[in-house]
Amino acid sequence: MNTAIAVIGGTGRVGRIVTRKLLDRGETVRVIGRSTQRARRHLPPRARFFLGDVRDPGSLAVPLRDCSAVVYTVEPGTDTTGPDSPQSTLHSGVLNTLDALLRQDGFGRAQFVLVSQRHVTRPEHPMNAYGRMLDWRLAGENAVRASGLDYTIIRPGWLTDRTELADDGRVHLEQGDRRDGYVALQDVAEACVQALYCPSAKGLTFEMRGGAGNPPGDWEQLFAGLSADESVPARALA
Ligand SMILES: NC(=O)c1ccc[n+]([C@@H]2O[C@H](COP(=O)([O-])OP(=O)(O)OC[C@H]3O[C@@H](n4cnc5c(N)ncnc54)[C@H](OP(=O)(O)O)[C@@H]3O)[C@@H](O)[C@H]2O)c1
Repeated sequence: MNTAIAVIGGTGRVGRIVTRKLLDRGETVRVIGRSTQRARRHLPPRARFFLGDVRDPGSLAVPLRDCSAVVYTVEPGTDTTGPDSPQSTLHSGVLNTLDALLRQDGFGRAQFVLVSQRHVTRPEHPMNAYGRMLDWRLAGENAVRASGLDYTIIRPGWLTDRTELADDGRVHLEQGDRRDGYVALQDVAEACVQALYCPSAKGLTFEMRGGAGNPPGDWEQLFAGLSADESVPARALA
């Protein structure tokens, strides 16, 4: 990439793997999060940490300035309302981030990779009992899809470490939000990174699940096997 990539939530489990992978590719990485202590503990020195909170638009302008891409992998609170609710992190936070990116003039549009979750289109799912988490995640997804930016939306199944998955290896990318399953954090992080480099990942929303078999060799081909959002009826996404 020509300029820095921002990883919002880059001190978290998925985010810190994304950060390392991007640094290994020679990218300049800006990590945004609320805890300097967490950053010290988890980030390699080459990552540049910015204190920021997606609920506070003023804290995003500087770290997002001139970024060529953003990976958004923020864990929500579970309160019904207020600052620790999914509404504030998964919807308002996404809107604040988009706003900061779209306000920049004189610079090319950034790419946006959003880590969402499986089941977002299923309001009856028990996960929605936590502050309507699924509804607000879907609202965040919809804002990204409508933003005009190049985007990829990744909906992982239950996150787990690769070492916990007996039959891990293969990665299933699926659409339609009907299935369930576990997926390795490492594979979700790799999908975030690959989405930034593979042209066929643009304009896609998909679910991820691990399974038995060989790890993917060619992500461009994996992404190319999916349907672009513009060709999917809106009701199948939302
Ligand atoms: N657990 C699952 O099974 C599962 C399944 C599907 C999808 N997901 C989703 O996958 C994503 C990544 O999960 P994870 O396990 O890597 O999460 P995690 O380890 O809890 O990391 C979350 C990151 O978000 C940051 N963050 C939280 N609130 C923030 C705010 N207001 N402003 C800026 N940064 C904030 C945290 O840093 P600070 O706290 O220091 O700010 C941290 O770096 C999350 O969206 C999660 O909900 C999880």
